[in-house]
Amino acid sequence: MAKKTITIAIDGFSSSGKSTMAKVLAKNIGYAYIDSGAMYRAVTLFCLNHGIIADDGTVDTAALEAQIGNIAITFGVNPATGATETYLNGTNVESQIRDMRVSSRVSTIAAIPFVRHALVAQQQAMGKNKGIVMDGRDIGTTVFPDAEMKVYVDASAETRAQRRFDELRSKGDTTTTYEQVLENVKHRDLIDTTRAESPLRRAHDAIVLDNSHMSRDEQNQWLLSLYNKIAGE
Ligand code: DC
Repeated sequence: MAKKTITIAIDGFSSSGKSTMAKVLAKNIGYAYIDSGAMYRAVTLFCLNHGIIADDGTVDTAALEAQIGNIAITFGVNPATGATETYLNGTNVESQIRDMRVSSRVSTIAAIPFVRHALVAQQQAMGKNKGIVMDGRDIGTTVFPDAEMKVYVDASAETRAQRRFDELRSKGDTTTTYEQVLENVKHRDLIDTTRAESPLRRAHDAIVLDNSHMSRDEQNQWLLSLYNKIAGE
């Protein structure tokens, strides 16, 4: 029996490992993969580069609203690694959007309603033909409420901070401490779950995966099995 082409929404806290497993699943099943967090990060980088976020973190929302139509976010596959990378107005920003400068400001930008409306519309357009795996915070609740497969990934703040810390070290960041990363993770959790517009919450029909004690292989296997069950073996 041919498999159904479906929409896959994977939501969860920052550094829950959802992006890693979403990417592997998309590759295995030949679906497009979209990291919606990268889009909020790219808008944040734009703001930092254009003086829209002051040093004290204050956002000039009027300036951002005037510019939002000039922010084009696209994705391209790096031929050397096969990885999907993020472009802001034609420039590859994949590395810059992951640094602490962006990480410490992105929750504020992601809480602004007009920013969310603009990005959600783009995400829905990207997924209109299904065959997509998208990860984020509000994919199963707001972006694709009718997605056939919804997963909500959970793991403790300490586990997630350790993962992000290891990632920063492996990329050559030797200055950021584990405590700073943990504080950033907890701060973002608080903003992401308490904001008025599309807060992070489990969609009523999402399946919960607590991966605190699972290996990457176990998570990938779990996700693939769920996909096979939903799309038809
Ligand atoms: O997944 P991430 O850490 O790269 O996400 C970056 C930020 O963007 C995070 O603070 C939450 C926000 N975000 C969001 O509000 N909605 C999404 N769909 C994805 C990310």
